[in-house]
Amino acid sequence: MRRVVDASPTARRTPSRADPTVPCSPPFYPHYISPKQTLTAPIPSTKQAPATTEQAGTEAKPKTERRKRVLSGVQPTGSIHLGNYFGAIKNWVKMQEEFDAFYCVVDLHAITAGGHDPKELVKSTRSSAAIYLAAGLDPARSNVLGLDPARSNVFVQSHVSAHSELCWLLNCATPIGWLEKMIQFKEKARKAGEDVSVGLLDYPVLMASDILLYNADIVPVGEDQRQHLELTRDIAGRVNNLYGGGKWKKMGPKGSRAPSGRFRGGEILRVPDAYIPEAGARVMSLTDGSAKMSKSNPAEGSRINVLDSPDEIAKKIKRCKTDAFEGLEFGNPERPEATNLLTMYQLCTGMTKEEVLGECGSMRWGDFKPALTDAVIEHLTPIQARYAEIVEEEGYLDGVLKKGADAANEVAEKTVADVRDAMGFMERIH
Ligand code: AMP
Ligand code: TRP
Repeated sequence: MRRVVDASPTARRTPSRADPTVPCSPPFYPHYISPKQTLTAPIPSTKQAPATTEQAGTEAKPKTERRKRVLSGVQPTGSIHLGNYFGAIKNWVKMQEEFDAFYCVVDLHAITAGGHDPKELVKSTRSSAAIYLAAGLDPARSNVLGLDPARSNVFVQSHVSAHSELCWLLNCATPIGWLEKMIQFKEKARKAGEDVSVGLLDYPVLMASDILLYNADIVPVGEDQRQHLELTRDIAGRVNNLYGGGKWKKMGPKGSRAPSGRFRGGEILRVPDAYIPEAGARVMSLTDGSAKMSKSNPAEGSRINVLDSPDEIAKKIKRCKTDAFEGLEFGNPERPEATNLLTMYQLCTGMTKEEVLGECGSMRWGDFKPALTDAVIEHLTPIQARYAEIVEEEGYLDGVLKKGADAANEVAEKTVADVRDAMGFMERIH
């Protein structure tokens, strides 16, 4: 088994995204998902994970092993759309069954574009969190997808100050050239012109902090986050190399412990794997099958939001771009809209690709569009109903977010304390 990314500081900096020859088969979830691999594949047992910050270093075997951990987040900018839902959130729901789950609303990321509207931010943060719960991440209830009551810790990123602190520490270990190469930065910076903020450049380091604070083993994201995950791995590798192992061990007397209680030495930060699903990793715009569905597209008709009413959904699908070919098919490069809309149907109905083809392959657009409309509405209706209940129930969301932030703080504080320790910061006197 070969890993795709060498997380050492000497690892190449150019993403291997485009290199189809790079195999990947880490022990459980691959860092780079091979095109054939999907979440529907049996999920191997993930109950145990070896040590990092919360457990022993290399010197001692961990006494108690923990479940493997998943972490992810969505920015509270605009509305959560089907790309966010199918690319990320829906997979989070499945993963919480097997993993120790931390899902955050990344509000600190949401201000990186600069000049945000504060009123909108707070509204969108609450609404995003409520959508997480409504989609099946509610720790108190059986979720709408029929799974057991969820076990996720749902929290708001800015409620855990360790995110900002670790970000600073990692900033000083991250070469600026690594950030300047990020595709999303280059694209967004081009659009922002002279107004581009330092925060936008630093965005991936904050994201790395989100992930590394929780020693996440796996990070479910859409395709567009692949490069950020690689960078996270590179940053973790670099910090481990610069400050971990023997150097950390020598920060105290032989066999001494770090603030988290683990022995000093070994990896400070766990190097995570990405999970990118096969279907849904890149949901495309309704008005252009070759462009990603995105919150920032000014054309509202380009996306379906999780909270769109049935009428809005019907209208958007009615007007969406199609083509003049006969029948419907997946994977024809000349028909990106067909692939996109069939995939959307597949994801909403839970059918396999083959079943979708069997049912819709010979349909005309005029027949398929109403079927797709029904499938999308049917999928979103229970989520919307639960969302309405959650926002109605006074104090409910706050309670969940408080619990989530408490649990997150407990883990995050330990990690950042260990990083401070390894980097040589004097301990605070109490
Ligand atoms: P963002 O809206 O940028 O905060 O994205 C949150 C999550 O949704 C990330 O995991 C993204 O990779 C994923 N995502 C965003 N847009 C899409 C899309 N069009 N298709 C699939 N996943 C997406
Ligand atoms: N950068 C991600 C996006 O826009 C959001 C994000 C922030 C995230 N921190 C994260 C995703 C940590 C996964 C893990 O899509």
